[in-house]
Amino acid sequence: MGTTWVVTGCGGQLGSALVALLEGEGESVQALSHAELDVAESAAVRSLLSTPAPGPKIVVNAAAFTHVDRCEREPEAAGRGNAQAPAVLAAACREAGARLVHLSTDYVFPGDADRPYRETDPTGPRTVYGQTKLAGEEAVRNASEDFLVVRTSWVFGRGRNFIASILAQAELRRRGEVQGPLRVVSDQRGRPTYAADLARGIRRLVEVGARGLYHVANAGEATWWDLARASLDEAGYRGLEVERIRTRDLEAGAPRPAWSVLDCSKAEEAGVRMRHWREAVAAYLGSGDSPISSAHQKRISND
Ligand SMILES: NC(=O)c1ccc[n+]([C@@H]2O[C@H](COP(=O)([O-])OP(=O)(O)OC[C@H]3O[C@@H](n4cnc5c(N)ncnc54)[C@H](OP(=O)(O)O)[C@@H]3O)[C@@H](O)[C@H]2O)c1
Repeated sequence: MGTTWVVTGCGGQLGSALVALLEGEGESVQALSHAELDVAESAAVRSLLSTPAPGPKIVVNAAAFTHVDRCEREPEAAGRGNAQAPAVLAAACREAGARLVHLSTDYVFPGDADRPYRETDPTGPRTVYGQTKLAGEEAVRNASEDFLVVRTSWVFGRGRNFIASILAQAELRRRGEVQGPLRVVSDQRGRPTYAADLARGIRRLVEVGARGLYHVANAGEATWWDLARASLDEAGYRGLEVERIRTRDLEAGAPRPAWSVLDCSKAEEAGVRMRHWREAVAAYLGSGDSPISSAHQKRISND
């Protein structure tokens, strides 16, 4: 009997990557966008999961309220999407005998460490986003022992993300519509993660029957400046200046952790092999997930 995968938040970066991966492998996938299923709606979630399937059901919750600054301004919406929704899903999965895979974030940590964060390190979120995501983790953990929570960081994939906004800013400068260098912070350090690689990592953890808490991110470390520079070079904007700035030079939004590097050795021991983030950036920019086409890259490289 084949497994049925249910992917919530399938319109997002990770959700769309997971659906593409699983469908490409011939798996049976029920992909649900926000419009099709609001994960915080208990009756809808219970009704979905009570539908019998021929084999085991694995539910991956790729839905979340990920706008970090908006979470500070809209704590109720953040709590609904990041804490209430996983609690609803975890309870419904337990009742239906489905396995839940839930996603969480480096923002559950205070961000002031000097070595990569392990799964066993104390948490201490400093933002509403991080607090509500931690509450979501706890709800999942409390609902059943049969859970898998995967924390990741600095995700880029199909849709809204840091690299896409840097490329949009670069293009405005190339066209002369905006003047002056790009300014990017160089005092926050983390592990950029390509959604397609994360999807493969999650697939691997499920395959080996992993349970509990895991960190999964691409290998290596970067500052946002490093990530901007590497993405611009790869996309053909080598000559574009990027000024290094400090976090305190930015307009205050939600506080951002200075140190967000996750230790992923537990997942590596389970067989999750994640390439270096620079290779992942190149793969992303060469794929249909990125906002630029290869024809565009060639054209601007030749300018
Ligand atoms: N992005 C990052 O840098 C990052 C870093 C660390 C961890 N993570 C975690 O990784 C996971 C995947 O993130 P992502 O980058 O793929 O996020 P994303 O691109 O923002 O996608 C999230 C999706 O969830 C949907 N959604 C929001 N609330 C929902 C609800 N109540 N019910 C159903 N769908 C809902 C959103 O729809 P709408 O757009 O319509 O709201 C969106 O399609 C999340 O758990 C996130 O917290 C992300």
